[in-house]
Amino acid sequence: MPRPYQPSLLRLLHGLTAALLPLAWLSGLVVYSRYDGRWGRLPVALPGDWIDLHGSIGVALWPVALLFGLYALSIGRWRLRQLGNALPLLALGLAVGSGKAMQEDWLRQGQLHHLAYHLHLLAWVLLALAVPLHLLELGRRGGVALAGSMLSLSLRSNDQPRDWWPQIQAVWRRP
Ligand code: HEM
Repeated sequence: MPRPYQPSLLRLLHGLTAALLPLAWLSGLVVYSRYDGRWGRLPVALPGDWIDLHGSIGVALWPVALLFGLYALSIGRWRLRQLGNALPLLALGLAVGSGKAMQEDWLRQGQLHHLAYHLHLLAWVLLALAVPLHLLELGRRGGVALAGSMLSLSLRSNDQPRDWWPQIQAVWRRP
């Protein structure tokens, strides 16, 4: 079987998303534990302004997630036929969209009833399910070789950064 290869633009956008997302997810857990906690709290209270930190990670994540989403829905859309790929993208979209609709002071003021906040919590749970499912499916389909192909740093001669723009343009030329 040939070694799987992932396009370099996909690896860049996917890698940035996959690096920022766990930070957003974990800091969100700390925020939930401190300001909400209806369904349980972390056993320790961590010092610091976690709403601020979570918000800053969100500010870094949303443009990256937007570009990644645009890539996945256009150049990479055939990959989304796999439920294990489509679900994390859906959950990511819900997380970023609902996060942008929230206001920073809601939780500080004890306002836990907003729809955007509930959707944000739902996205957090969906991500907790969708990302492990993504990895399980990758393992089932191609094992360590497929998962590792997303982390590989090797570039084919026709897949350099200068080839990204032609790759994007090719989407419009496809029937
Ligand atoms: C952390 C959050 C993650 C999210 C939100 C995520 C999301 C996605 C999405 C939406 C796709 C489809 C892209 C497209 O349509 O072009 C994809 C593909 C892929 N992801 Fe992830 N991913 C994550 C983590 C990981 C990790 C940790 C690995 C393994 C190192 C990984 C390996 C892959 C691979 C190999 C593919 C290509 C699968 C294929 O060809 O069908 N992902 N990912």
